[in-house]
Amino acid sequence: MYRWLQGFLFGLEPERAHHLTLHVSQVLLRIPGMKRFWALLWPKVSDQWEGMGLHWENRLGLAAGFDKDARYLEVWKALGFGFVEVGTLTPRPQPGNPQPRLFRLVRHKALLNRLGFNNGGVEAAVPRLRHRPKGLVVGANIGKNKDTPNGEAVKDYVTCVEVLHPWVDYFTINLSSPNTPGLRDLQEAGFLDNLLETIAGLACQKNVRRPVWVKLAPDLAPDDWQSLWPVFAKHQIDGLVLTNTTVDRSLLGAQAAEAETLGAGGLSGAPLAAKSEAMLKAMKTYGTSYGFCPSLVSVGGVMSGSDATRRLELGAHLVQVYTGLVYRGPALVGECVRAMRS
Ligand SMILES: Cc1cc2nc3c(=O)[nH]c(=O)nc-3n(C[C@H](O)[C@H](O)[C@H](O)COP(=O)(O)O)c2cc1C
Repeated sequence: MYRWLQGFLFGLEPERAHHLTLHVSQVLLRIPGMKRFWALLWPKVSDQWEGMGLHWENRLGLAAGFDKDARYLEVWKALGFGFVEVGTLTPRPQPGNPQPRLFRLVRHKALLNRLGFNNGGVEAAVPRLRHRPKGLVVGANIGKNKDTPNGEAVKDYVTCVEVLHPWVDYFTINLSSPNTPGLRDLQEAGFLDNLLETIAGLACQKNVRRPVWVKLAPDLAPDDWQSLWPVFAKHQIDGLVLTNTTVDRSLLGAQAAEAETLGAGGLSGAPLAAKSEAMLKAMKTYGTSYGFCPSLVSVGGVMSGSDATRRLELGAHLVQVYTGLVYRGPALVGECVRAMRS
């Protein structure tokens, strides 16, 4: 059925197709009996997991960027996700980059985006997070506003944690989007030390401590991520999200030049898989030899159940999908959870 729907959706401009699909899904779910019908179409698979002080219905999550403003939490629960990472949310609303800014590379089962953290801001997300469905772990991926200088970036992350702390289960510090100028420069030991020092205090409020994850770019050189590890250990971060989109167009082979004509942006989907897996493997090995192993969340090019199980075999504790959902549709969720369980 999704193939037929995909034919229609892929005829639309990608961002329009995205919003239309989510809006229609939300409306459909409000029709009495629809949740039960969806459960027949896409049966929920249980693969319960305990970790980081939280109970997870299963270990498959929706990656950041799909539901930036936490508008569709009921949809993700109905599709069978165990967790959802909303955001990237910034302190103030911002429009993101001019359109067009999202492109399909169908032959490669990939996307190219330069959305630039378009979101309604943290305060606007609160009323929706307040009414989030039970049984779904919800994390907030947080970032800085585009016009906040890097020297003042800590303040932006602090605002996000302060506002969202009562309403989410964990935080992901996003330092790795290629679409906010200068953001990836913050993946640097000095800045991260200062940021995590500040965040660690705030992550614990009213005796409730929210796990803190850091999301990294797949384009970091080993010297760079090795220099971050002492900082991760010092602040005992709970998780590492590996990885964000890549700026490496060579992964598209002969189509790389063609993709250049689309302009700047991060590449996601099938071509990212090898790079994401390599980073997961390297981080697992390095963490073991360093003697500090946060939970590893693998994302990037998971397009099937076997991709998801491979990530577990390589050391991931949790797996997220984004582009796979666009190309495979809702059936991917059950397929991944079933494969991860077995
Ligand atoms: C259109 C689009 C928007 C995204 N927005 C964000 C974002 O706001 N914050 C973030 O941390 N990652 C964002 N990502 C990156 C994804 O969360 C994920 O790390 C990346 O796409 C690799 O996973 P995939 O190959 O399954 O898509 C975005 C990805 C896409 C395709």
